[in-house]
Amino acid sequence: MNKKMNIAIDGPAGAGKSTVAKLVAEQLSFLYIDTGAMYRALTYAALRDEIELNDGPSLFKLLSQIDISLKHEKSGVRVFLNEEDVTDVIRTKEVTSNVSLVSSHELVRVEMVERQRKLAEGGHAVLDGRDIGTFVLPDAKLKVFLTASVEERARRRFEEQQAKGIDSDFEQLKLDIARRDELDSTREFAPLKMANDAIEIDSTTLSIPEVAELIIELAKERTT
Ligand code: CDP
Ligand code: CDP
Repeated sequence: MNKKMNIAIDGPAGAGKSTVAKLVAEQLSFLYIDTGAMYRALTYAALRDEIELNDGPSLFKLLSQIDISLKHEKSGVRVFLNEEDVTDVIRTKEVTSNVSLVSSHELVRVEMVERQRKLAEGGHAVLDGRDIGTFVLPDAKLKVFLTASVEERARRRFEEQQAKGIDSDFEQLKLDIARRDELDSTREFAPLKMANDAIEIDSTTLSIPEVAELIIELAKERTT
């Protein structure tokens, strides 16, 4: 696929965005950009530096002092905060329960979006997040809004935790997911919302390869 084309994949937590985006990028030889990991890395840095998470200007100041990079290695995408590999620590419960607050600040989002647009400049990227189709790349050639029932999304997270040997409570996971969706959808600036020209895919009963295949077909259609 030589023509420039970015693919935006947005949707709520646990819909399968990052897993599917990675697979689509791999199959099309595109760059995968995990925008959620960037907000998570900032949240991790803010918690570590004990910055007040309601304070947008202080978070912005911190962000302007740090470099967040996504390095594509054989083992997968690694997330770096300056020189530190934060790939695993940005997935803790503490980061997950605070990331929506950190990412609700307009000052933070404007800076992140600028960085994300630079990363996607080459025109062969798959970005997953909440506001890619509506705000980061309003001209993306293909926009997908990936959903699944909250029950199924909680089940997926539960299984993921079990596989990692982490004890978790299904009902609590469901509540946490619903709370994060609510915060992400109701924030004032660039909320989670389906773009008017996005295609909605409900993955509740679909496997990962099935969703990836659908998106690749759509991408191919758009280039011919
Ligand atoms: O993978 P998961 O659905 O748990 O979340 P994520 O994609 O890692 O994103 C973590 C959080 O970052 C989201 O709940 C949003 O609050 C925020 N986020 C955002 O505001 N905008 C984006 N483009 C991506 C993530
Ligand atoms: O990025 P997002 O939060 O939207 O979801 P994810 O982290 O890609 O996927 C959450 C979990 O659901 C992962 O463990 C995936 O393997 C799994 N999944 C699935 O079982 N079936 C799908 N169709 C998509 C994802």
